[in-house]
Amino acid sequence: MENKYGVLIHGAGWVSTQHLAAFQRHPRSRVVAISSRRLASARKRAEEAGLERVGLYDDLDKALRHEGVDIVSICTPQHVHCENVLAAAAAGKHLVIEKPIGNSLEELRAMQAAVRRAGVKTIVSFVLRWNPLFRTLKRMMRDNAIGDPYYVEADYLHNIGSWWGGFEDGRKKSTGVSAFLLGGCHAIDALRWFACREEFKAAEPVEVFAAAGGYRKGSGRQYDYHTGAWLDGQPPLEYDGLEVALVKFAGGALGKVSVNFDCVMPYKFPVRIFGNLGTIRDNKVWSHKFPEQKGWIKIPSILPDSAEVAHHPFQAQMDSFIECLDRGVESQCNLEDAVKTHEVALAALRCYETRQPVKLPLV
Ligand SMILES: NC(=O)c1ccc[n+]([C@@H]2O[C@H](COP(=O)([O-])OP(=O)(O)OC[C@H]3O[C@@H](n4cnc5c(N)ncnc54)[C@H](OP(=O)(O)O)[C@@H]3O)[C@@H](O)[C@H]2O)c1
Repeated sequence: MENKYGVLIHGAGWVSTQHLAAFQRHPRSRVVAISSRRLASARKRAEEAGLERVGLYDDLDKALRHEGVDIVSICTPQHVHCENVLAAAAAGKHLVIEKPIGNSLEELRAMQAAVRRAGVKTIVSFVLRWNPLFRTLKRMMRDNAIGDPYYVEADYLHNIGSWWGGFEDGRKKSTGVSAFLLGGCHAIDALRWFACREEFKAAEPVEVFAAAGGYRKGSGRQYDYHTGAWLDGQPPLEYDGLEVALVKFAGGALGKVSVNFDCVMPYKFPVRIFGNLGTIRDNKVWSHKFPEQKGWIKIPSILPDSAEVAHHPFQAQMDSFIECLDRGVESQCNLEDAVKTHEVALAALRCYETRQPVKLPLV
């Protein structure tokens, strides 16, 4: 028997290409099966990756019974993540779960209960936690480069549109839910990450106040930032494309986070971290450690400024998960932790109804 974790990739779309490649490259894992809604998609994914002896399925329950599956990588659209997690956890599999992990508080709580019951390990694809710049910044914060963070800002500026294969599900209220949940959860997670100076920990959000707006909801006109073209007659967003939230963290730090699907510009993911001994603006640092500093020190690193999945550090994420499995420890980005990020997105939706700040954790 090979001493490798067997991986089942479930949902053979865009992001699955990177999950598959990362597990294939790792010396301690290999993809043993692929499942998707359509068998043809699973087959195509296998062929493109040059995998010959893998199980191919159009049914998750059957795929879970494939011999040698230890890890299930859930790459389906968000509205089926919960049912996928419940099935895979019940089958005793460790889980990689794409964000957003679920669409409602009930789904979050059901997944937490199922994972606790099964005792399996999880990692959620807030993949930017492994971005080289983010890692460098967290190490610098650990080493007191900016002191204690008291205010953080993060923005997910992404004109998401019909070019994305997942847009048809993602744009709808019933399946995509909201801009914060669909894509802005990455920025919420970054906000939590940088509001805490410990290297492998994210801050606890305790209160949220949010507003939604923008101009794109219900419109069939889209801007494609890849080509610069304006497209008419496209399926519209069913929810507001702009959301802005203020977040209070345990310990007193404040955060401001936005998601903006309405922006006419290429993808950007800016972050600003204000500490009592220095400041970080993306890859630029002002620090008490350099008292002679006359200008911003620039870190020549890979910025989180691409929406292309091949640019995302999935390899580092999966490497860290395999290390967690080997050591029998939880990931810093496990389901329990990721739920806290998702609760901010769900709290924002409650604010739009009540117009009141919402306390976390949600009940
Ligand atoms: N972490 C990140 O940075 C990142 C980046 C991109 C996407 N994502 C997330 O990853 C997930 C997938 O996104 P994507 O871009 O890969 O979307 P995608 O290209 O549309 O792929 C989704 C795949 O899931 C399959 N599928 C749909 N409904 C299914 C069902 N009920 N059962 C089984 N398979 C089903 C589709 O299968 P068929 O082809 O078989 O019909 C499709 O191939 C989303 O949650 C998205 O938000 C995360």
